[in-house]
Amino acid sequence: MSFSQSHLLGIEPLSPSDITAILDLADQYVDLNRRDIKHSDALAGLTQINMFFENSTRTQSSFELAGKRLGADVMSMAMQASSIKKGETLIDTALTLNAMHPDLLVVRHPHSGAVDLLAQKVNCAVLNAGDGRHEHPTQALLDALTIRRAKGRLHRLSIAICGDIAHSRVARSNILLLGKMENRVRLVGPPTLMPSQIDEFGVEVFDDMREGLTDVDVVMMLRLQRERMDGGFIPSEREYYHRYGLDAEKLSHAKDDAIVMHPGPMNRGVEIDGEIADDINRSVIQEQVEMGVAVRMAAMDLLARNLRVQPPDVMA
Ligand code: NCD
Repeated sequence: MSFSQSHLLGIEPLSPSDITAILDLADQYVDLNRRDIKHSDALAGLTQINMFFENSTRTQSSFELAGKRLGADVMSMAMQASSIKKGETLIDTALTLNAMHPDLLVVRHPHSGAVDLLAQKVNCAVLNAGDGRHEHPTQALLDALTIRRAKGRLHRLSIAICGDIAHSRVARSNILLLGKMENRVRLVGPPTLMPSQIDEFGVEVFDDMREGLTDVDVVMMLRLQRERMDGGFIPSEREYYHRYGLDAEKLSHAKDDAIVMHPGPMNRGVEIDGEIADDINRSVIQEQVEMGVAVRMAAMDLLARNLRVQPPDVMA
């Protein structure tokens, strides 16, 4: 199993074989997580620090559980209450933590590029848990694992990513990953919620849900990211639901066995009908959460293996 990276900052630097290495190991961790005793010592003796500068429920708890199941010493910093509030810069905070010798630093930050910058200043493995509108690599990897397990493959599938693409790091990381694995990606949503550099992505774009969903294997819905909007991107939530919300009628245009995904948190009745979200025959939203823990275990395990190749001097 080969994984070439010393950090997980985004999907962009990963090769198809890096992606496959993470997913293959994650499959093994899914099995471990379904046992009564969910424990391995892959990260025993290592220290994992979680720094979330933005609110998060599922991603932060998923990383925390992943580290604990692998035997790491895990600490989650309460960033709201930290020195950042007293005016300390991101880099000073990172250097302070670095002096405590963490092995894995998991960071979420509202600014695109902040996590890359931080990775240049510390000497441990850094995992990006979401930076601004830029990337959210573990989300794309857990989505890929969910798709691969549901469809039996992760290539030559037709996947529609729908809704607020412009503000979404999840969309960006998924477009990159699904493209690297040779799938056909469609983006569906109102033109006001499409990113400006859309031509660079090599995707098809639709502003009509029924057309965009026709014959797809996977329907991936995104949350309307109101906190990132500073103007009138949509007329009203009711109108948005009418045109772009996923309901049974719109879904009937996809393949009969198409799966429905959503990274959470969901706005029921805005981008997705609650009944579709809860339909266990179509929706894999709960599986996504389960895959999230396994993928994060795999990513941290592989990064830790690369760390151990270069033991600190004192151990030499
Ligand atoms: C996503 C995020 O934070 O980018 N959520 C998540 O990681 N579970 C998507 C979102 O916030 O809509």
